[in-house]
Amino acid sequence: MRRIAAPLALLLASTACTTMETTPVSTAVGPDRMVSPILTSPEAVDTLTYAQPQVARVTHVALDLALDFDSKRVGGTAELTVLAAPGAQEIVLDSNGLQIEQVTDGAGRALAYTMGEPDPRGGKGAPLTITLDGAETLRIAYRAPEDASALQWLSPEQTKGGVHPFLFSQGQAILNRTWIPTQDSPGIRQTWEARITAPEPLDVVMSGVRQGEPESLGNGRRAFTFVMDKPVPPYLIAIAAGDIDFKAIGPRTGVWAEPATLDRAWREVNDTEEMVVAAEELYGEYRWGRYDMIVLPPAFPYGGMENPVMTFLTPTFIAGDRSNNGLVAHELAHSWSGNLVTNAVWGDSWLNEGVTTYFENRIVEAVYGKQRAEQEAALMFANIKETLAEVGEDAPGTALSTDGGYQLGSAIAYDKGAFFLRTVESVVGRERFDDWLRQWFDNHAFQPATSELFYEDMMANLVQGEAEAQALLLREWIFEPGLPANVAKPDPAAFATVDAAVTAYGATGAIPDAYTQWSSAERQRFLDNIPKQRSADQLATLDRALGLSGTGNNEELFLWLELALANRYQPAVPQVEAFLAEVGRAKFVRPLFQVLWDQGDWGQPIAQRIYADTRGGYHAVTRAGVDAIVGEPAQ
Ligand code: BES
Ligand code: ZN
Repeated sequence: MRRIAAPLALLLASTACTTMETTPVSTAVGPDRMVSPILTSPEAVDTLTYAQPQVARVTHVALDLALDFDSKRVGGTAELTVLAAPGAQEIVLDSNGLQIEQVTDGAGRALAYTMGEPDPRGGKGAPLTITLDGAETLRIAYRAPEDASALQWLSPEQTKGGVHPFLFSQGQAILNRTWIPTQDSPGIRQTWEARITAPEPLDVVMSGVRQGEPESLGNGRRAFTFVMDKPVPPYLIAIAAGDIDFKAIGPRTGVWAEPATLDRAWREVNDTEEMVVAAEELYGEYRWGRYDMIVLPPAFPYGGMENPVMTFLTPTFIAGDRSNNGLVAHELAHSWSGNLVTNAVWGDSWLNEGVTTYFENRIVEAVYGKQRAEQEAALMFANIKETLAEVGEDAPGTALSTDGGYQLGSAIAYDKGAFFLRTVESVVGRERFDDWLRQWFDNHAFQPATSELFYEDMMANLVQGEAEAQALLLREWIFEPGLPANVAKPDPAAFATVDAAVTAYGATGAIPDAYTQWSSAERQRFLDNIPKQRSADQLATLDRALGLSGTGNNEELFLWLELALANRYQPAVPQVEAFLAEVGRAKFVRPLFQVLWDQGDWGQPIAQRIYADTRGGYHAVTRAGVDAIVGEPAQ
């Protein structure tokens, strides 16, 4: 086995205690690569991986892959560095549909392997078990399947430029096993490097630092190399390729986008350097070097994805006035919560998303002011209330820490998580809270974490005295459903004017004159709170007076379209159709199909007609969400 400085046992297994020793680290890529510990406490065991990291684990991944846009396939080799316990016979990796051609050791000697039966529930894929036979390096020659759900291959028509194809990946939560053979678990961190070839003139970016200039191969293709020398959970390995250009913002920040989108994108994210500075002032040094972003074509299924050194963004957040930049603050905040300190299991995803949503709000406060931050917090609070009213205060899924349960956009992991930290802040005071959160990031940097670990750390390093412990209700917040009584509610003044306008509109139909001068959060509050049942005349009046269908802000447009469809408002249908043909962001697409579906005889035929055209253009994530509503169309 490869010799390393730290005791093997510590690297292979580290129990969940707050005094956990940190592994001796080095940041070089090479023989002394940084290796993160894993957790072995029962609640840190990931049921969504086949890996048995306490027996043998991957510490480094070296990819050498070719992108083939004609066959929509990625293939090549993955060289894995293995750290195995004494006597370990085999290593188990995750695979979902990978076609393995050969496995050899570092010297080219063939190693035996078996691909197990795929999990019938899908998603988890199948175990790829490789006989080690003393090997410390594994070289896997393979191809990803054509329908690898992490990857979306866009036709030129799905791009702004319309000339070149595009590719992007989305790894979170367990999709990367459809294109990378490794241990795909958030608690098993790996350093990585990659050499990627792509046809000219496409550019390739990854969630690692690009090394030098691309190398021309003389066959119409170029090779790009990338290095991530800090151990990351493998869901954070990401790639995008297309006709893209770069524009710098600050000394370590910049944005990539298609040429036709780049200027608009650059103007929108121009506060990013300032945000990084604000984030560092709050919770310590930004540890990843560069912070770049790529604004993808609108098929991207999420608002944003926190891929290290290269946040992926939907273009649908661009409003022209930076009003949706909470998204950028959010993905940036993940550089601490999520990417530095990572949920060991997806049932604890609030440790990533809730802490990030809190941190996001603090960045928004620092960069855009207290009022905007309070308004955005009030929208989050309303979201929690709405969800609890829907599913019930005691629904088990409303606990922050859930056994295996995992939902995106959930008001629980994100907003209840954020309100938990906000409540703790209000009890102990901002100064003590910020000191504590900063040490949490520092002391657990490049390591996995669990809810139990978070709780123990708060008890050991934050909470002072019995009375404070009682007042905080920490275990209730983390492990019980519902919303604890001590929640630090948003300032009712945040939306006082809007709420009065909502009441007036409900009573007399009076349309607020100031609407167009309001902030986007105010407009969203209004649209979300006016009476849900509207006649066609009332909708036409609202649209005319407030310019709803003409808004350049997609969050507002979405609320308008949702309201219109819920009232079977025919004039909105062509716009819905155009929107759903262009945008693949699940947060917008799924609810629009849902609201159509809920409109029975009126909406279901519309939904089916639209989906027959748009399904092929959606990412697997979005497709799965809509299939569950509309049903999978017959082949
Ligand atoms: N990490 C998430 C996206 C994600 C979550 C992908 C779960 C796959 C599974 C990202 O940081 C996120 O939260 N995006 C939000 C941003 C919003 C809350 C500001 C989104 O895409 O809407
Ligand atoms: Zn997030």
